[in-house]
Amino acid sequence: MPHHPHAEAQATPRLDLYAPIHKALRAWMFDTVMRVGRTDGLDAEGLQQTLSRVASLLAVCESHIHHEQVFLHPLLEQGRHNAAQAADQAHAGHARDIARLRSLVSQVRESSPAERDPMLMTLYRALSVFVAENLTHMHWEETVHNETLWACYTDAQLMQAHDALVQSITPQEMAETLRHMLPALAPCERLGMLSDMRAKMPPGAFEGILALAHEVLSVHDAAAVLQGLGLPLHLPAVRAPAHG
Ligand SMILES: [Fe+2]
Repeated sequence: MPHHPHAEAQATPRLDLYAPIHKALRAWMFDTVMRVGRTDGLDAEGLQQTLSRVASLLAVCESHIHHEQVFLHPLLEQGRHNAAQAADQAHAGHARDIARLRSLVSQVRESSPAERDPMLMTLYRALSVFVAENLTHMHWEETVHNETLWACYTDAQLMQAHDALVQSITPQEMAETLRHMLPALAPCERLGMLSDMRAKMPPGAFEGILALAHEVLSVHDAAAVLQGLGLPLHLPAVRAPAHG
């Protein structure tokens, strides 16, 4: 049988720098929209929790834009002239949306009890529209941008960009991101990512990641991670009750 190197190359999946963080962001966005939707404006504690969740989402979206601008857009532009132009403009629009949403969060926080539920509804709608715009934008990046990156760079070169990006993230932001990313990934993606982290992190730091995985994953998924990594299963028979 003749050898078809091209067909072989097509069958090998390429490194997708966007998919894992975008799965995390989608889950994070949907969860936050739902939280805003079910918040009781007269429950002061619940309201503060929801508003701080919105603030965290906006902070991570801002940071995500920064990561893409610094670590991916130069690669895109070097690979193909103007390849990052549409996303540059979209990111500028997202930065303006984030500023408007922050102002809405402040308005909810400062509103009188009578105004609060209508203000929450305004925030809910505005956040939903922001999510809708981001869904379209992420799809563009995962299709059009990936096509350029895959045509112009090897996976090893893309992995270098990935590692430089990851190294720029503070441990606190990394933990917060993994809290949303780990449950959002398919088992093989989760295991692939954790294996890569294990190879690149000090053992003590990786122990912390495993503890986080245990906290945010179902018992079944956490066991699959340990098994996939070749680690002994040490599942508690009963989970400790959550405090606070
Ligand atoms: Fe983006």
